[in-house]
Amino acid sequence: MADLSINIAGLRFKNPVLLASGTVGYGNEIAEFTDLNKLGGIVTKSLSLKPRKGNPPPRITETPSGMLNAIGLANVGVESFIKDKIPFLKKLDTTLICNIAASTIEEYVECTRILTHEESIHAFEINVSCPNVREGGLEFGNDLNAVGRITEKVKAVTKKPIFIKLSPNVSRISDFAKLVKENGGDGVSAINTLVGTAFDIYTRKPKIKNVTGGLSGPAIKPVALAKILEIKRNVDIPIIGIGGIMDWKDAVEIMIVGASAFQIGTVNFINPNAGVEIVDGLKTYCEQNSIQNISELTGSYQI
Ligand SMILES: Cc1cc2nc3c(=O)[nH]c(=O)nc-3n(C[C@H](O)[C@H](O)[C@H](O)COP(=O)(O)O)c2cc1C
Repeated sequence: MADLSINIAGLRFKNPVLLASGTVGYGNEIAEFTDLNKLGGIVTKSLSLKPRKGNPPPRITETPSGMLNAIGLANVGVESFIKDKIPFLKKLDTTLICNIAASTIEEYVECTRILTHEESIHAFEINVSCPNVREGGLEFGNDLNAVGRITEKVKAVTKKPIFIKLSPNVSRISDFAKLVKENGGDGVSAINTLVGTAFDIYTRKPKIKNVTGGLSGPAIKPVALAKILEIKRNVDIPIIGIGGIMDWKDAVEIMIVGASAFQIGTVNFINPNAGVEIVDGLKTYCEQNSIQNISELTGSYQI
């Protein structure tokens, strides 16, 4: 039997398949359609210090081979997350990563400081790359200094691993990964969505109220692969790969270019059991290709 378990920054995941932030709520939204205990991990919807309503609808629209979303980080806030969502999450036998979004560096730090006391949270993913909010989000994700400072300050208030979620909407993503490493970050998650838009040709109005949104799904897989490869070739830091993974073949591909683990997002809306199916597909692939431990795939590309 192939060993699918992986280790990132001292944290063990039973397999490399994680559910991406914002696509499964706080796990409860998808639980009746799949067995979450079979997955390597769950990443929560981005949490902010106070609850956020997000952007006005329409907030999502389908595009060729993908979707655009401008949810605007709607979430219950840290306090309600601890009170109402953790009790469900802590019963699961999977690794829990808490994703944090904020409008100021102080807010990132404060959220992490509060949440680090929750035993059931194993690591943090810091979202510095949301394209759909006016303050914070891409303002930080495009600013090398800010990404370095956020990494350093958040790391100072927790002993748990910190993964910084990077934006693809930059010219050299590896420069950002380098700063994460230099400031003590344990890894990077790459990529968040790409800025895009879509218009109705009859009303001439944007299909989402926010005008622009984040593009995700199969359309962005080649971009994700290129960005991950760029990081892998330039910086020695663990990468959690994200972007357009629909099945186990996409998962193998993203690991080959450099990901130690990966997250699936858009596919959850089409097939909420996709994660479990990918775990099964990876098992068979490893067995048929004499791979003893799945981590052998990470960065094993031949150029
Ligand atoms: C509806 C929706 C909501 C999202 N919300 C968040 C979020 O709150 N925080 C975050 O870091 N990423 C968020 N994302 C981005 C995903 O986590 C992921 O990075 C992106 O969708 C690319 O992966 P995919 O192509 O597998 O969907 C969201 C994506 C979608 C489609």
